Amino acid sequence: MATAVWRFSKKKKKGKIMVLETQRLILRRWEESDAQVLYKYASNPAVGPIAGWPVHTSVENSRDIIREVLSAPETYAVVLKETGEPVGSIGLMLGKASNIGIPDTEGEIGYWIGVPYWGMGLIPEAVREILRYGFEELNLEKIWCGYFDGNEKSKRVQEKCGFRYHHTAENVPCALEGVWRTEHITCLSKEEWQNKPLPNGGYKSDFNGSKAEPSIS
Ligand SMILES: CC(C)(COP(=O)(O)OP(=O)(O)OC[C@H]1O[C@@H](n2cnc3c(N)ncnc32)[C@H](O)[C@@H]1OP(=O)(O)O)[C@@H](O)C(=O)NCCC(=O)NCCS
Repeated sequence: MATAVWRFSKKKKKGKIMVLETQRLILRRWEESDAQVLYKYASNPAVGPIAGWPVHTSVENSRDIIREVLSAPETYAVVLKETGEPVGSIGLMLGKASNIGIPDTEGEIGYWIGVPYWGMGLIPEAVREILRYGFEELNLEKIWCGYFDGNEKSKRVQEKCGFRYHHTAENVPCALEGVWRTEHITCLSKEEWQNKPLPNGGYKSDFNGSKAEPSIS
């Protein structure tokens, strides 16, 4: 299971604050003092709406989102080690915190990253660490993910991290007022995660996307 990325992965506890680490990233709690930089990336309309949430309208709006949304348990700022700047977010919603109807032994991952950092493999790197954390430290049995119809970039992230297509949900409400979407749900069991890592920290690409038959019960 050890890979270049995972060898660098570790967890530290500082009081109640959990910090996860990968080769290029620190995953830590959002702080209100991140509002300015959050606004810089989350005010870009290419980021929120495709993921189902509205663009941030001001630094104050971003601060409110940090207080009300990004303060949820197991929600992390994706911080570049090189600069110390938060450039994205990743969260693991456990049990009822997820809206796909899963038990407490399972979780759902959500993520985004600022446009200047697209295509560098940073979110797959963060997802792999959250998978390790979820399976090894929280002892989860399954971890779910999903993407709205047409979000090919997010589909690729899930493919590269080993998720397999599970089912498609129609008319899914999202945080955009009055908007309902088609969502493709993917899943990775602990057993699959344990058995399928490749030397580069990725997984065999083996799901065909929205039209594939569900392969995990
Ligand atoms: C989806 C997202 C998180 C991917 O993060 P990332 O760190 O860029 O992931 P990757 O570097 O692995 O890139 C994933 C795919 O995006 C595409 N991509 C990369 N850079 C791109 C760019 N500048 N413009 C358009 N597409 C790009 C590529 O197809 C890439 O797949 P590949 O590795 O097969 O080439 C990021 O694009 C994002 O935040 N999008 C907006 C919010 C969102 O969709 N969140 C997910 C909701 S389910």
